[in-house]
Amino acid sequence: MIKRVRSWLNQENSQQTHQLSPDNIPEHVAIIMDGNGRWAKRRGMPRIVGHQNGMKAVKRTAIAANDLGIKVLTMYAFSTENWTRPKDEVDFLMKLPQEFLAIELEELIEKNVQVRMMGHPEDLPSHTLSAMEEAVAKTAGNNGLILNFALNYGSRKEITESVKTLGQEVRDGILRPEDITEELISQRLLTGELPDPDLLIRTSGELRLSNFMLWQLAYSELWFTDVYWPEFTKDHLVEAIANYQQRTRRYGGLS
Ligand code: IPE
Ligand code: IPE
Ligand code: MG
Repeated sequence: MIKRVRSWLNQENSQQTHQLSPDNIPEHVAIIMDGNGRWAKRRGMPRIVGHQNGMKAVKRTAIAANDLGIKVLTMYAFSTENWTRPKDEVDFLMKLPQEFLAIELEELIEKNVQVRMMGHPEDLPSHTLSAMEEAVAKTAGNNGLILNFALNYGSRKEITESVKTLGQEVRDGILRPEDITEELISQRLLTGELPDPDLLIRTSGELRLSNFMLWQLAYSELWFTDVYWPEFTKDHLVEAIANYQQRTRRYGGLS
């Protein structure tokens, strides 16, 4: 059965229709939400206005993903490298989770969304961490969309930590080196039992991974758009999925 989805490339004009096949919706979509600063700069506004508007795009996209039947949506919100930005900007970014959740948590609960956090909590300010922990606790019993925020996330740090844990287990005699498998390493990463992303989206025209899910993206389909994150809508998500559905995933084999 083919469901017809009508898509507008932007609010003002044009109608592009995408046919989405409901039996090939990516289970896990990961997004590098980029371009907030440039979006604001283009409008002669400070970068933080871009982040504020980026938050609205987070809401839109989460609801859209839920509507489309995506199971896991991972959103890169703050990297381990983003601490090198000016303190004012970092402070502003660290206030966004509580602001976002204060406004949106109720609706997310209503929609059966399960909020998770993936990252290194130890460096986060306590107000940021407690807002996230509250949302995680309040939605833990939900079984709809998993909305996974990558916050203070860095893939190399994640892999390094998991290698350390495995090393300790070997030292303690819990594990033999020959027991270390790809599956075991996957389980030790912050994604745990989550499936690898089927589709990675990056906005703003940058064509790189910026230390995001390096292990988990091994066979993900990649989709890049020039659209800045604050302008990202459901239509862009539908466009990305329509493109994904046209691809043949070979995993090194033959189609
Ligand atoms: C993405 O937008 C948000 C974060 C990295 C926190 P940017 O802040 O990177 O915006 P640009 O890329 O400078 O335009
Ligand atoms: C990646 O964007 C991090 C997030 C979106 C949170 P950046 O803007 O930090 O990445 P670079 O610096 O362009 O690689
Ligand atoms: Mg950027």
